[in-house]
Amino acid sequence: MDLSNRTVLIVGGTSGIGRELARRFAAAGSTVAVGGRSAEALSELSDEGIGTFGIDVTDGASVARARDAVLAQYPELDTVVTMSGVMLLEDLRDPAVHFEAAQTTIDTNLVGTIRVIDAFTPHLVQRGAGTFVTVTSGIAFLPFPPMPTYAASKAAVHAYSEALRAQLDGTGVSVVELVPPAVATAGQEKVNPHALPLDDFATEVMQLLSQNPTPDEILVERVLMHRWAERDGTYDDLVAQRSQALAMLPGRQG
Ligand SMILES: NC(=O)c1ccc[n+]([C@@H]2O[C@H](COP(=O)([O-])OP(=O)(O)OC[C@H]3O[C@@H](n4cnc5c(N)ncnc54)[C@H](OP(=O)(O)O)[C@@H]3O)[C@@H](O)[C@H]2O)c1
Repeated sequence: MDLSNRTVLIVGGTSGIGRELARRFAAAGSTVAVGGRSAEALSELSDEGIGTFGIDVTDGASVARARDAVLAQYPELDTVVTMSGVMLLEDLRDPAVHFEAAQTTIDTNLVGTIRVIDAFTPHLVQRGAGTFVTVTSGIAFLPFPPMPTYAASKAAVHAYSEALRAQLDGTGVSVVELVPPAVATAGQEKVNPHALPLDDFATEVMQLLSQNPTPDEILVERVLMHRWAERDGTYDDLVAQRSQALAMLPGRQG
């Protein structure tokens, strides 16, 4: 993919990975717009010359309004990144508390992704060229037990991306799945000393995206052990190791 001439929308581009990739695409010469709920973050990005759109991916009417506004301003839109996501801890021994987190996670990470893809599929197919970039996680392939519904949502987006790629075959619209490892955003920098610095991650992602043809999955070096754990026979040991993090759940401390 030539990163210098795209017209890109990053839904979930108001912070973290999405905001950094928006800035990288803009710096490479592409036209960039971002979507999200935070008016303050949108205003800051607007000051940087990035197009901004309010959108809540859990609300179908909001997604439709944002789609109409984006396509009115950027009729040449060719790349849609579905970055919106929440990462919530859940204690499954406390069903009354965890269920709301589970619903929010599925509605944002999975159904939100589907809403955004549905909104832009007719436009990209009608263009006969374009790219969806979906966003999963190493956790889609190797669960992290403190975040069970998060793992389920990302495994689902992986499966959905594979089916979407097959269904769009022949239309000119490709599907690329970005699979981040732990990256130092969204407070992770405070709790996970192993999280990859955002700058390093973004540099590797842009390099992988610029390959021609773009790989179906964007796998930075750090995520390979998660992506291929089952194939490599390390899965059970790694899940056991990652289960030690259950001690971080509030009800399990002390
Ligand atoms: N950081 C990691 O270690 C890591 C690892 C693997 C995968 N990921 C995935 O990468 C993506 C970005 O994560 P991040 O680390 O950059 O976290 P982040 O800084 O919290 O970014 C999350 C983004 O999602 C948006 N969002 C959340 N709920 C939304 C909603 N209902 N409607 C519209 N937008 C919504 C947020 O925007 P508003 O709040 O403005 O709406 C924000 O732009 C997520 O899908 C995450 O699961 C992250």
